[in-house]
Amino acid sequence: MKKETIVLASNNKGKIKEIKDILPDYEIISLKEAGIFSNPEETEDTFEGNALLKALDAKKHTEHMVIADDSGLEVSCLKNMPGVYSKRFYSYVNYNNNKNYTDSSYIDKLNIRTLLKLMFRVDQVNRNARFVSVIALIKKDGSHVLFRGECKGTILNEPRGKRGFGYDPIFMPACYNLSFAELTDEQKNKVSHRANALTKLKEYLND
Ligand code: IMP
Repeated sequence: MKKETIVLASNNKGKIKEIKDILPDYEIISLKEAGIFSNPEETEDTFEGNALLKALDAKKHTEHMVIADDSGLEVSCLKNMPGVYSKRFYSYVNYNNNKNYTDSSYIDKLNIRTLLKLMFRVDQVNRNARFVSVIALIKKDGSHVLFRGECKGTILNEPRGKRGFGYDPIFMPACYNLSFAELTDEQKNKVSHRANALTKLKEYLND
C-alpha cells in the first residue's frame, strides 16, 4: 500500500533524518522536496508558537498533512536559555557577531562554543538541562494538534562524539553515560525529545 505523504516544514538535515527514521510508515518529504521555498521568521517566544507558525506557513502551499518541529535546549542555570533561541544562540550572546552564516555545522560549533563559555565556572551538579521538541501537525482540513516531548540530561564540559547535529556533542541524556553525539541513531531515537513528541504524534495518527 502507498504510504501517506507528510510534508515536514524543515530543511534541517539532522531533524529530517531523525523524523524519517522515527516515522517509517509515512513518506516524509522536506520543504525542498515538496518544492516549497517559503521560510518564515520564527517570531514567537514559545516552541508551540514557532512550531505552529512554521507548519501553518507550509500548509498554504500543499494539500498534504504538514508537520513542523520547533525544538531547543533549556539550561537550568541560564534561566532556560538558549530555549527558542537555540538555532542561532551565538548571535544573541555575541552582539558583535550578527553574521548570518549558512554553514549549519559551523553554526553548531559557534553555538556550542558560546554555551560552554557561559558555563565555564558552573560546577557539575548545576549543569542540568533538557531538550524540548514541539511537533505541530496540520491536518488536511486545516485543523491542528500539538505534541511536546522532552529529554532531561546535563551539559558536558567539552564536546564528545561526532554524530548528530546541533548541541548533541555537549548534551548527555540522564539515561546514558554518553553524549547524544556518541549514541547511535537508534539509541538517540529511543530517548530523544523529538522521539517522545513523535511517539505521541504516531499514537494520534493511528487512533
Ligand atoms: P529550530 O527548531 O529550527 O528553531 O532549531 C532548533 C535548534 O535547537 C537546532 O538548530 C539545534 O541547534 C537545537 N536542537 C534541536 N534539537 C536538537 C537535537 O536533537 N540535538 C542537538 N541540537 C538540537
